[in-house]
Amino acid sequence: MKSALITGITGQDGAYLAQLLLGKGYKVHGLVRRSSTTDVNDVRLRWLGIAGDVNVIDGDLSDLSSLMRIVRAAQPDEVYNLGAQSFVKTSWQQPLLTGAITGLGCAAMLEAVRLEKPDAHFYQASSSEMYGMIQEPMQSETTPFYPRSPYAAAKLYGHWMTVNYRESFGMHASSGILFNHESPLRGIEFVTRKVTDGVAKIKLGMASELRLGNIDAKRDWGHARDYVKAMWLMLQQEAADDYVIATGRTVSVRDMCEIAFQHVGLPLEKHLVIDPELFRPAEVDVLLGNPAKAKAKLGWEPETSLEDMIREMVDADLARLSTGR
Ligand code: NAP
Ligand code: GDD
Repeated sequence: MKSALITGITGQDGAYLAQLLLGKGYKVHGLVRRSSTTDVNDVRLRWLGIAGDVNVIDGDLSDLSSLMRIVRAAQPDEVYNLGAQSFVKTSWQQPLLTGAITGLGCAAMLEAVRLEKPDAHFYQASSSEMYGMIQEPMQSETTPFYPRSPYAAAKLYGHWMTVNYRESFGMHASSGILFNHESPLRGIEFVTRKVTDGVAKIKLGMASELRLGNIDAKRDWGHARDYVKAMWLMLQQEAADDYVIATGRTVSVRDMCEIAFQHVGLPLEKHLVIDPELFRPAEVDVLLGNPAKAKAKLGWEPETSLEDMIREMVDADLARLSTGR
């Protein structure tokens, strides 16, 4: 039986990845940081019905000795480093914490693996945010980076450390440069989920408006369930490498909203309010990924359209709000 260690297992991707790996017969260990509300921090794992199937080990990405202890105990064949302060807007309010967890946390995890289980295959959750002020209309593995937030700068450090550990120590360390991916398990602060939750509340008479910031921003959105498959595929390759994971289609926040409102038969113009407070100090105007390498080398392709995903999210939020769960 293969075993895997996932940091960030309580997050959106961690939950879907755990589900995927359990389905493949893996023993799944998850690093979970201590919380005063342990009864709610596994909510996504419970939503997927797998909370009892993963072995949770306490630790924190800011604490190297805890990471070493966990890797030593779990002896994983594969390590997926998904843990991060992942909300871009917060990274301007907590830049040092973001650097410590999202950037140095990756280095700490690489060190723990190098010292305790150097033959483990390692995955780093890199991000399309690293392209920031885009240097090419369609971003691929060879497009230069231009980070536009403390989060993106921290991710860039993690990305290059992953490349560096591969080249310096021969570790099987891969970096997945994933474009935005969403699902009913997405955190409510991210724009797709904020929209689907907001639309569901308006539909149910629980709210009358939806406040957003820059609706002209464009993103290449895919489904998290599809994207975790790419993570796994990267670690099954003979040689480690870096891959862009994207759909190859970019859509504005406004048009994404339109899909959600249309799904429940409500007029967007009547309910949408633009709030200048929600604009960011620096914006990533547009992201559009080229997943050609992932298709050619991993045989990976996105399976879910943006329209289907947004409808799935709206329906999940309607069900959640109607049942109070
Ligand atoms: P998420 O839902 O925000 O999950 C983040 C996870 O990191 C949570 O499990 C969180 O634990 C954990 N975490 C935070 N601080 C930690 C710490 N100090 N020590 C240990 N764990 C800590 O993020 P996601 O959407 O699943 O994304 C997964 C990863 O992919 C992240 O690294 C993100 O930056 C990256 N990424 C995401 C996307 C996307 O569109 N979703 C795209 C590119 C890259 P708690 O539950 O305790 O908070
Ligand atoms: N969150 C949010 N809330 N975003 C808004 C809002 C709002 O009210 N109004 C407009 N937006 C715009 C943001 O300014 C941004 O341009 C876009 O919607 C997407 O914002 P988010 O959903 O917060 O995601 P992100 O693109 O900043 O970051 C996500 O994707 C990255 C990959 O490109 C996160 O998941 C990162 O962790 C990930 O690395």
